Amino acid sequence: MSLLVEKRGAAGWIVFNQPAKKNAISGAMWRAIPPAMGEFDRDPEIRCIVFRGAGIEAFAAGADISEFENVRSERGAVAEYDDLLDRVLHSIQDSLKPSLAMIYGYCLGGGLEIALACDLRYCGTSAEFGIPAAKLGLAYNIEGHKRLLETVGHAWAREIMFLGRRYSAEEGLAMGLVHRVLPAVELERYVDGVIETLCKNAPLAIANTKTILEQYVKSEGTPDTARMRAAIERCAKSADYIEGRRAFMEKRKPRFTGK
Ligand code: COA
Repeated sequence: MSLLVEKRGAAGWIVFNQPAKKNAISGAMWRAIPPAMGEFDRDPEIRCIVFRGAGIEAFAAGADISEFENVRSERGAVAEYDDLLDRVLHSIQDSLKPSLAMIYGYCLGGGLEIALACDLRYCGTSAEFGIPAAKLGLAYNIEGHKRLLETVGHAWAREIMFLGRRYSAEEGLAMGLVHRVLPAVELERYVDGVIETLCKNAPLAIANTKTILEQYVKSEGTPDTARMRAAIERCAKSADYIEGRRAFMEKRKPRFTGK
């Protein structure tokens, strides 16, 4: 299992540690996040939670695609995987303690979902953002779409999802994906300062803001989740999704047919 969870002073750290795969997030790593968040939530000494990737090449290059054939292919399994992702994102979003993503290098797919679930995002100039679902034929999950939309708005959400391309740190800043871009050598020191401030500021005032903001971003009408799930299922059952993940593993360009 490659998720490192540790306390450093009043900050709880969660580190994606699979450097050989650019810190791609395996099923075991996803599953370990909600208990880690729960532990930090219950610990009165912890005042903020920080996510990062091991090293400086990647925050996380998304979910571990090499597992998709087994754990994210059959109908039931896709729904199960999405439920797991939703639980992970909620464990971060629903925490009343402030969370922060410190981003070096690749921050893609599920990695970006985690970063977007955090309250704050700071990155180095080497950061690259993107959600390559359309390049994999992958049905991206409901909660991930929601947070992306809330953060960057309709226009950017559509471009990010339709093109599946990667964006530089400066582009990420321009579209509101991150709060600040720093030279790589300054990022950790800067984030340490933010952590210090978060740990000194009044926890209940921060928790109050989180509670109120989360209520405001709740959708007014009830979204038609049955319709969303049907769209996800259609994509998850498609030949294109099989082609997309196999092409990635075989290091070739996918040929999509829309079937
Ligand atoms: N899942 C599984 N393995 C991954 C991975 C992922 N999401 N991202 C990278 N890897 C693996 C590569 O397969 C490669 O393995 P290998 O050494 O056995 O060949 C290794 O990590 C290094 O990646 P590589 O592609 O050689 O590095 P790069 O610097 O040329 O490119 C990325 C890095 C992140 C741009 C590229 O690997 C990539 O596009 N990854 C997939 C990103 C993605 O689609 N994520 C969304 C998943 S939902």
